[in-house]
Amino acid sequence: MLSCCSRRKPSISIQGDRKEMSNLSVVMSSVFLLGATGYIGGSLLIQLRKSHPGAKITALVRSPADLPVICEVGAIPLEGTFSDYDKIAECASHADMVVNAGSSDNKDMILAVLRGLKGRKEAGRDIGIFIHVSGSSVFLDDAEGWFDPEGRVWNDSNEEDIKSIGDSVVHGPVDVAILKAGEDGYVYTYIMCPALVYGVGSGPVAKDTNFYRNLLKASVQSGVATYVGEGSNVNGSVHISDFVLLFGLISELSLAGPPNNSAYARYFFATSGKFAAKPLVSQIARLFYEKGFTISPEPQSVTFEEAKGKNYMRAGNTRMQADRSFALSWKPVQPTCFDTLETDIESVSKTISKASPLQECKP
Ligand SMILES: NC(=O)c1ccc[n+]([C@@H]2O[C@H](COP(=O)([O-])OP(=O)(O)OC[C@H]3O[C@@H](n4cnc5c(N)ncnc54)[C@H](OP(=O)(O)O)[C@@H]3O)[C@@H](O)[C@H]2O)c1
Ligand SMILES: *[C@@H]1O[C@H](CO)[C@@H](O)[C@H](O)[C@H]1NC(C)=O
Ligand SMILES: *[C@@H]1O[C@H](CO)[C@@H](O)[C@H](O)[C@H]1NC(C)=O
Ligand SMILES: *[C@@H]1O[C@H](CO)[C@@H](O)[C@H](O)[C@H]1NC(C)=O
Repeated sequence: MLSCCSRRKPSISIQGDRKEMSNLSVVMSSVFLLGATGYIGGSLLIQLRKSHPGAKITALVRSPADLPVICEVGAIPLEGTFSDYDKIAECASHADMVVNAGSSDNKDMILAVLRGLKGRKEAGRDIGIFIHVSGSSVFLDDAEGWFDPEGRVWNDSNEEDIKSIGDSVVHGPVDVAILKAGEDGYVYTYIMCPALVYGVGSGPVAKDTNFYRNLLKASVQSGVATYVGEGSNVNGSVHISDFVLLFGLISELSLAGPPNNSAYARYFFATSGKFAAKPLVSQIARLFYEKGFTISPEPQSVTFEEAKGKNYMRAGNTRMQADRSFALSWKPVQPTCFDTLETDIESVSKTISKASPLQECKP
């Protein structure tokens, strides 16, 4: 059933018992990756190839055009979409580790992954590892473009904060299902929760954060880059390379042996910097204008209702303290999102056709 790569096969898989090997180096023979053509998933794929060159990495790929690209970087592409539940369940059941960086919201796809992992245990095989990428919107407040100094700060070291995640928050249904599966014990779950991820990614297909991609599309449509209200709302941020570093630490932890703690203690925030909306969007507005995407170098404030109507919201705050990740000796080293902005916007600019009619309208 696997559509294998003809040009270059990944090197032979090492059949290692990870419990025996854990004191030497971390060995794993197979990974099933969701989201390999994406910004985050692509960077994780490159990292996995480096850290586990012997592992067989199977990547679900929906666009036929991307199949050879995924082969080129040494993974086995499996053509399919997130609706191919049986295929996903079967691949998950055969992998030592499943990594999902494809969707924080597609619950049916996640249930298929969990079904496969449950089947694996029921068939008497090693319990599988599942590393899932959620997102900081879980902890988004309902501010409409302002900063509340009294607002709640969430802390990944505090299990009560993680237990309080419910179905009603963004990404909640998926996080809740995965945490429950981890507590049920048929899979070892690890959840990573990144704030805004920035920096040019190393993946073979998408290289730019969906945050800038969406902002660029919206700005081209309206002719200006916008923020909500006074734009003092604050968010966390993490450079893609620092995120990959944390992923490496978490995957090593997961491979070092079965966890002895609760699933709520295996939830890791990925955030190391922060930014307020208006200062960031102001610089982006200037860069978009210089590149001919918009008609003004100044950002524009819009109301919450206007932003909502346009389906891109940058109105709330997420305030997160990544104590658990730091306790894993995670040491983010990359520059801030302001420092990398020129390069990031240059890169994302290449994803949109320069022949936009707006360019001609530019005064
Ligand atoms: N970027 C951020 O700043 C950020 C921050 C926090 C959380 N996150 C979360 O991280 C995850 C990945 O984000 P990203 O920025 O890497 O997104 P992305 O670049 O859009 O990547 C999404 C990946 O999932 C695949 N995919 C989506 N729908 C699919 C479907 N129906 N069938 C098969 N494949 C499908 C895409 O395939 P195609 O290439 O075919 O489209 C792509 O490989 C998201 O869930 C997001 O919520 C991102
Ligand atoms: C985060 O929570 C842990 C566990 O409750 C606590 O020890 C730590 O001090 C908290 N961190 C902050 C910055 O409040
Ligand atoms: C649980 O595992 C961690 C490392 O994974 C170890 O440091 C700790 O001592 C263990 N605790 C118990 C009670 O076994
Ligand atoms: C803050 O992050 C949340 C969740 O990641 C997002 O929905 C919101 O738009 C962000 N706000 C800003 C100012 O970027």
